[in-house]
Amino acid sequence: MVASGSSFYMDDTNGPQIDVEDLKAFPKKVAEVTRRFSDIDQIILMAGSGSVFDFKDISSSSDTHIASEIATNVTFPMIASRLIVPFLISRDQPAQIVLVSSGLAFVPFPIYPVYCPAKAAVHYFACTLRGQLADTPITVTELIPPYVDTDFDKNFRAQLMERTGGKLKAMPLDEFTEEAYKGLQDRSDGKPKKEVGVGTAATRAGIWWDAFRPVFEQYGVSTMNS
Ligand SMILES: NC(=O)c1ccc[n+]([C@@H]2O[C@H](COP(=O)([O-])OP(=O)(O)OC[C@H]3O[C@@H](n4cnc5c(N)ncnc54)[C@H](OP(=O)(O)O)[C@@H]3O)[C@@H](O)[C@H]2O)c1
Repeated sequence: MVASGSSFYMDDTNGPQIDVEDLKAFPKKVAEVTRRFSDIDQIILMAGSGSVFDFKDISSSSDTHIASEIATNVTFPMIASRLIVPFLISRDQPAQIVLVSSGLAFVPFPIYPVYCPAKAAVHYFACTLRGQLADTPITVTELIPPYVDTDFDKNFRAQLMERTGGKLKAMPLDEFTEEAYKGLQDRSDGKPKKEVGVGTAATRAGIWWDAFRPVFEQYGVSTMNS
């Protein structure tokens, strides 16, 4: 694993801790991971962050904060994949790269005006990277969490509840972890799954695929099932 997240954590006791925004140090850190874990076969790019911004109130965001959110959610998985894919191809063994999007990639909430489009970008990156790696032993899996009870929204949960009329229910973390882990370890088709949607996020992603799969097929673009 290359980056940190709640369920899977790499720190200085089991691998180098990486600030995914530190692009200068990033290639060296990734090289250290691939050297120390040369037989790694599942890489989960989990780091992410999202903030509540109000574009009517300039003081609620800053250029730096917006750029940082794009860096963590979008630039990081793209650059990590750029560095890791040649290493995995050189080993010529089955491996899995997991990109973490969100149910918000499919149904964006206005309260997260940067995070939702960033996660939509992760979804589309999963589609394009998967298409590029279709003739390799590497599976690109998109993990799509629903709203999960973590520290993610600890600073603005009250606002989120207020703006959504208290209708949102976070999935307990242990429930999410169990379901996500089961999906990520599933080899019932002889290889890893290309998409692991959990709870309501699985429903949203399913609707997206049902709507757009015929268009992908019309243009001969590889979909998640090809
Ligand atoms: N919770 C949800 O409702 C939800 C829903 C859909 C998708 N997700 C996605 O699931 C993933 C995990 O989120 P979470 O819910 O576990 O939230 P979290 O508790 O806030 O964890 C986010 C993780 O990302 C790491 N991170 C953030 N910025 C980083 C940076 N610059 N460099 C390295 N690591 C960084 C954090 O590391 P530190 O602890 O060291 O800061 C933390 O481990 C994220 O990609 C998130 O977007 C979450």
